[in-house]
Amino acid sequence: MRILENYDLTTLNTLGISAHAKFFFILEKESDLKDLFLSGCFKDNPKFFLGGGSNVLFTRDFNGIVILNKLKGIEILRENPENVWVRSLGGEIWHDLVNFATKRGYWGIENLSLIPGTVGAAPMQNVGAYGAELKDVLENIEVYDIQSTAKIIFTKEECELGYRDSVFKNKLKGKYFISAITVKLSKKEKKNISYKVLQEYLEKNKIQVKSSRDISDAVSAIRRSKLPDPAFIPNAGSFFKNVFLQKNKAAKFFKQYPNAPHFEEDEMTKIPAAWLIEQAGWKGKRVGNAGVHEKQALVLVNYGAASGAEIKNLAEQIIASVFAKFGLKLIAEVNLI
Ligand code: EPU
Repeated sequence: MRILENYDLTTLNTLGISAHAKFFFILEKESDLKDLFLSGCFKDNPKFFLGGGSNVLFTRDFNGIVILNKLKGIEILRENPENVWVRSLGGEIWHDLVNFATKRGYWGIENLSLIPGTVGAAPMQNVGAYGAELKDVLENIEVYDIQSTAKIIFTKEECELGYRDSVFKNKLKGKYFISAITVKLSKKEKKNISYKVLQEYLEKNKIQVKSSRDISDAVSAIRRSKLPDPAFIPNAGSFFKNVFLQKNKAAKFFKQYPNAPHFEEDEMTKIPAAWLIEQAGWKGKRVGNAGVHEKQALVLVNYGAASGAEIKNLAEQIIASVFAKFGLKLIAEVNLI
């Protein structure tokens, strides 16, 4: 087992922030986990598990051990005439799992195409896009207790998945390492084209959806047209969560802002954070090397050599200005380290 020191994380986070980890370990075999957890270096230092680095902002060097999950493998566990259960190790790229499913004609994760990051990170924040969430298909996840090193299975319910949220971001934060997930997909057509932007795209391009692949292609095209590619403009996708208001609070808000876009979801009213940010004048703005993307105001970008502190500072300015204008508090979706 080889633990590296003073490791440069610049290429391992999609915001391209230059930060160093005091210690660094590349996890390639599940059998290395126990040795790692029992090592002095692991026990005595703060730890951070890294997947695709697409939802993290390193605000400074990390004075502890970063573990890069490279556990690979996707397999079909079982199937019946209706469904198929697919298990993927956590170090797989999320979109590779989507491709595995759509190539075989399975339905359930095609709306989640091109979400950056790894499979192991997906349950942490219950990844979601274009009207679907991991929650809709998750069967269970496999985790390791980092204290006892025991392997445990969490059912979907035990993961307490919510909007960009799970038990692992809350009461169980830092206690478990997610090694694999199993999703239950459908072999029968189960198309979900309720999301307005997706529906409009299909209509405009006269696309008749015949397979999960058709939806995957459409979602990929929409994402490519709106969201910056981290390979060219480093970013971490949506930097903030959308805002959900209860009915009475929403009614008050719409008295003042009758034209605000909104979507009813789970008894709550969703106000797009991108709209709030745009209205506060931030869309396309640049502060030093940090900026707000010109096509999607929810995305903060690194134009060059922005430091983590610079991006954080921009995020704080946006939060303050949206609060001053609308009285609504934006919450970061990205994990600030
Ligand atoms: N809008 C603006 N200005 C903008 C962009 C959007 O006013 O610059 C408004 C429009 O009214 C639009 C609405 O926001 O109708 C919704 O926009 P969009 O459909 O692009 O989605 P979003 O709410 O901005 C969320 C997710 C994305 C996901 C898309 C599609 C969050 C925090 N973000 O964005 O997820 O891809 O929906 O489902 O929920 C991510 O998490 O990194 C991510 C990219």
